[in-house]
Amino acid sequence: MFSVFTVYFLAHLAVFPRGCWATNYTFPDDFLLGVATSSYQIEGAWNESGKGENSWDHFTHNNPDTVIDRTNGDIACDSYHKYEEDIELLKNLGVDFYRFSLSWTRIFPTGYPHNINYEGINYYNKILNLLAANNITAMVTLFHWDLPQNLMELGGLTNSRFVTYYTEYARTAFEHFGDRVKYWLTFNEPYQTCMFSYGGTRLAPALGMSGIADYLCGHNLLKAHAAAYHLYNTTYKPKYKGKIAISISAAWIEPNSTGDEAAAERLRQFLYGMHLNPIFSSNGDYSNVVKESIATQSFLEGYKRSRLPEFTQDEINYIKGTYDFMGLNHYTSHLAANSPSTSLQTSYDNDYKATYWFDDSWTMDGSGSARVVPWGFRKLLVWLKNSYNDPEIFVTENGYCDFGDMDDRGRVSYYGQYLEALLDAIYVDNVKVIAYTAWSLMDNFEWNLGYVFKYGLYYVNFTDPERPRIPKSSAYFIKYVYGNRTVVSYDKIL
Ligand SMILES: *[C@@H]1O[C@H](CO)[C@@H](O)[C@H](O)[C@H]1NC(C)=O
Ligand SMILES: *[C@@H]1O[C@H](CO)[C@@H](O)[C@H](O)[C@H]1NC(C)=O
Ligand SMILES: *[C@@H]1O[C@H](CO)[C@@H](O)[C@H](O)[C@H]1NC(C)=O
Ligand SMILES: *[C@@H]1O[C@H](CO)[C@@H](O)[C@H](O)[C@H]1NC(C)=O
Ligand SMILES: *[C@@H]1O[C@H](CO)[C@@H](O)[C@H](O)[C@H]1NC(C)=O
Ligand SMILES: *[C@@H]1O[C@H](CO)[C@@H](O)[C@H](O)[C@H]1NC(C)=O
Ligand SMILES: *[C@@H]1O[C@H](CO)[C@@H](O)[C@H](O)[C@H]1NC(C)=O
Repeated sequence: MFSVFTVYFLAHLAVFPRGCWATNYTFPDDFLLGVATSSYQIEGAWNESGKGENSWDHFTHNNPDTVIDRTNGDIACDSYHKYEEDIELLKNLGVDFYRFSLSWTRIFPTGYPHNINYEGINYYNKILNLLAANNITAMVTLFHWDLPQNLMELGGLTNSRFVTYYTEYARTAFEHFGDRVKYWLTFNEPYQTCMFSYGGTRLAPALGMSGIADYLCGHNLLKAHAAAYHLYNTTYKPKYKGKIAISISAAWIEPNSTGDEAAAERLRQFLYGMHLNPIFSSNGDYSNVVKESIATQSFLEGYKRSRLPEFTQDEINYIKGTYDFMGLNHYTSHLAANSPSTSLQTSYDNDYKATYWFDDSWTMDGSGSARVVPWGFRKLLVWLKNSYNDPEIFVTENGYCDFGDMDDRGRVSYYGQYLEALLDAIYVDNVKVIAYTAWSLMDNFEWNLGYVFKYGLYYVNFTDPERPRIPKSSAYFIKYVYGNRTVVSYDKIL
């Protein structure tokens, strides 16, 4: 017993540099393991079978230069035609569940809630039926950024009418698919949805109205989330017993020095507390530091009221508690310091009075765009537990970026270390993490990063019209780890 444990422990040490103590690297019995994709990133068939134009079709066709390799998702992984093969990949990996998203304009081609396109309904029915036949649980994201273009032209999420259009779309999805969907996600990543699309220029429609449009977007997004939650909770949950929540993206923010703790906490509140607090905190509403920072800066800039919209008490009560778990996407960590900017230019970045960056000493990912910081994952999980009443946390994305190595040992090492950090959070810190999702099943259209930056367990050859999928080393690793429900040292299996 002693020697077996020692060998196991040393094998771990050799590959994954670790914290101070060894814990249990076996997943709890009811823990769920899965992989994720999203509709625009994999489906292709952008104008087939009655699908209408969405914001990403429009954006990439009209502004090709905004994507680094001038590509788009017209064909992507061609999963619209290859979904059966994709479900074979899921079976091969041995996943408990598959997270994918619905394309709104496949279901309502104009975006408006009328004239259902039954070819779109049928496509998702085929996927859900095949998943069920293979005992793969379905997790469905309602909104993963591909907004109907008509709604985008009405202002997208900055238009308060969005809430009712979204709720009717959600109702249609619950109505047609609810019997086979165990987990629903209302929105993927509010921060990126609002700050990169409406505040910034990285994602469609690249409005660049920072400090105004991003806050309007977040406000309506939270209301739409709550409306979909209540609709499901009252009408569908009693029948189907599924669960519904939002999925936020959060990096760990580590203070640069002890004097920067307040700045780090303020940044956490701006980067994810802004969208977590109204749903998960006991008081509801935006956190005080967010409300006060934006109000103060707004007045300095000459506004007569805060640029952050206010929730009424009724709205606070309506949004508070609208979760069955917390969906968490996590990739990397940052250092942060106080930065008392005196600029009076209206901008989200001027509202939080802090700065953040990657520590040079942290291991770079395979693309140079993020760092590998497994201890940051663990600290984030503990912070979420302590800040938001110890919710059940469903990790809905975690992954590593490179330029496409088939023997992707950087990705394998990343998954090994992050899964160990997650298990430490469960067994040592008592965080209620209930599931883990690797992003992504396969290489896909990575938004403004085109097909250059890769996250897949499977390689996809995008120059071959057949779009063949080939397992990378990380696919073998994930298969082994998921199959044995234990995190192992990768040199045992490759
Ligand atoms: C590790 O966790 C698994 C699953 O909860 C459990 O069955 C096993 O007994 C644990 N092993 C140790 C050494 O604690
Ligand atoms: C769909 O778009 C492609 C270009 O991506 C075009 O060649 C084709 O004609 C379009 N099909 C329809 C039915 O509009
Ligand atoms: C699915 O699960 C059921 C019940 O546990 C089992 O009878 C069936 O063989 C499983 N099917 C597959 C394809 O694994
Ligand atoms: C971060 O901390 C280091 C070491 O204490 C210090 O030298 C550096 O100036 C700090 N950086 C910022 C931006 O505050
Ligand atoms: C969800 O429905 C249950 C059962 O009716 C109810 O107890 C609960 O308060 C509802 N959740 C919210 C956030 O309204
Ligand atoms: C991708 O497909 C193209 C066209 O079929 C082929 O020439 C190329 O060798 C393939 N690349 C890889 C890495 O398989
Ligand atoms: C689980 O571990 C065993 C023993 O190391 C190995 O033979 C098997 O292939 C693993 N399972 C999977 C699904 O990889």
